[in-house]
Amino acid sequence: MKKIIALTTALVLIIMFAGCNANNSASQTDAETKAAASTSASKASEKTTSKSKDTDNSGKTLVAYFSATGTTEKTAKLIAVCENADIYEITAAKPYTSEDLDYNNSDSRTTKEQNDDTVRPEIGSKKLNLDGYDTIYIGFPIWWGEEPRIMDTFVESYDFNGKAVIPFCTSGSSPIDTAEKNLKSNANGGDWKDGRRFSAETDKDEIQKWLKTL
Ligand SMILES: Cc1cc2nc3c(=O)[nH]c(=O)nc-3n(C[C@H](O)[C@H](O)[C@H](O)COP(=O)(O)O)c2cc1C
Repeated sequence: MKKIIALTTALVLIIMFAGCNANNSASQTDAETKAAASTSASKASEKTTSKSKDTDNSGKTLVAYFSATGTTEKTAKLIAVCENADIYEITAAKPYTSEDLDYNNSDSRTTKEQNDDTVRPEIGSKKLNLDGYDTIYIGFPIWWGEEPRIMDTFVESYDFNGKAVIPFCTSGSSPIDTAEKNLKSNANGGDWKDGRRFSAETDKDEIQKWLKTL
């Protein structure tokens, strides 16, 4: 009788142990499936997000700027933060060296470029897709009272029709007026708003006050 009880208990224990293992592997498989599913879902959603970043810019604002020594870049970044805008740096295919920027040298690259309003320095940064952007801020430093010629390359490279274009510049003291007039007349369309000149000391408060007036 004792032997029968012992055998029955052993049998019951073996059956319970086997069932437990089966449950464990079942739940492991479930967990693995769920993890795999969630990874592919998040990969799919990443793809959609980056796709929509590339192609769907409806109603969005862009700040595009050129800056040789960082002053305009600082202002551009403040505008982009305040406007929750995308930002794009216009760079020269052949970067400007400090010798190039020497305005005391009548033979420097910038002096020569600014003396010839037909010069169009090549842009080095990746081509933009302006589809869906309805407001574009365009920033640059003043060189010899005007826009750097690379800004003319920029405005001639894109179609601004149906978009509000808001120019801004930084300078030692010169106003934006001539640059603004030149860019507007060279650009492919766009609803050009009054531009604004900033100094190197411009802070977020000043930017916010200006943005409220637009
Ligand atoms: C080649 C060159 C020409 C410049 N010409 C003028 C000028 O005519 N009037 C002015 O107020 N500032 C002039 N500046 C000063 C710049 O406009 C000013 O430092 C600007 O904020 C620089 O911006 P960035 O750092 O974004 O390049 C000139 C600077 C350079 C390099």
